[in-house]
Amino acid sequence: MTVVVTGVAGFIGSTLAQRLLDRGERVVGIDSFTDYYDVSIKRANVAGLRAYPRFDLRETRLESVAESDLGDPRVIFHLAGQPGVRRSWGREFDAYTTSNIAATQNLLEVAARLPRLERIVNSSSSSVYGDAESFPTAETALPGPLSPYGVTKLAAEHLCGVYAADHGLAVTSLRYFTVYGPRQRPDMAFTRFLTAVRDGRPIEVYGSGNQVRDFTFVDDVVDANLAASEAGHQGHRAFNVAGGSSASVNDVLEEIARITGRVPDVRRLDPARGDVLRTGGDTSRIRDEVGWVPRTPLTDGLERQWAWVSAQ
Ligand code: UGA
Repeated sequence: MTVVVTGVAGFIGSTLAQRLLDRGERVVGIDSFTDYYDVSIKRANVAGLRAYPRFDLRETRLESVAESDLGDPRVIFHLAGQPGVRRSWGREFDAYTTSNIAATQNLLEVAARLPRLERIVNSSSSSVYGDAESFPTAETALPGPLSPYGVTKLAAEHLCGVYAADHGLAVTSLRYFTVYGPRQRPDMAFTRFLTAVRDGRPIEVYGSGNQVRDFTFVDDVVDANLAASEAGHQGHRAFNVAGGSSASVNDVLEEIARITGRVPDVRRLDPARGDVLRTGGDTSRIRDEVGWVPRTPLTDGLERQWAWVSAQ
């Protein structure tokens, strides 16, 4: 059976595709190789996948993808999107509406016509919550994004709900909480911090560093996608995918000093716009309904990412 992975050249998409190919699936990977970050990183992410005869890479934009591009899949893992909380203000917002809203809407239109499609697993984000009222935050909490990025991810979830109700699609939205690990994007905190330490450059911290994240290791996110593809529910349902590693940026800096054996040179900058003070996801819904629990403690995952950064 064929599965589709959109955003297959990205951090999470390429890691998921690798696991699917290792399990013997036939994978159609879609990516448009946007230049939000260095495209050579994305080329490197797919290089290993191209060695598999069961992997088919299609370089196309999702907002204009057609049925014939998808190859009659059983499941679509929708990882494509314009990421990044801090860059979503001002004129950059156009890329967010196109890649997160218009692209998702077109994918849903096309998906509704696929005869053998059983489920879409949609990648959502903890940023839909904004500064949540309570922690750990359950999926029943009222969303209130604080960044334009979060607004587009919430809109995409709502589109999934609309198409599920109207076209009978089964869609599972996974709300990822700050994913890290090997291949993490170059604009994200851990890659920036560890690369700076490796190269003897200062680490830039936005604000006090007291902001807390429920950091989630990428292999756990892959597990969540695989488990969600077998989820039993009809219609649309959202689940938190949170690592259970509630830590502040300052806690992470201490851990980095311990793991690398180097004292980071830290520069404090102004807080970043749209940066929430705290995230923390209640994972009891996904545990009870999908059977997923996070497995990787922050220390282990950070060590794995340091090994990857050191080898670059
Ligand atoms: C991340 C992803 O980038 C989003 O795409 C995703 O949707 C979001 O997680 C989510 O959980 O929904 P973010 O939490 O900002 O967003 O992830 P990081 O870039 O790893 O930043 C973590 C914290 O470190 C933030 O508070 C950020 O302000 C801080 N940071 C980041 C710094 O202090 N310095 C940096 O150089 C980078």
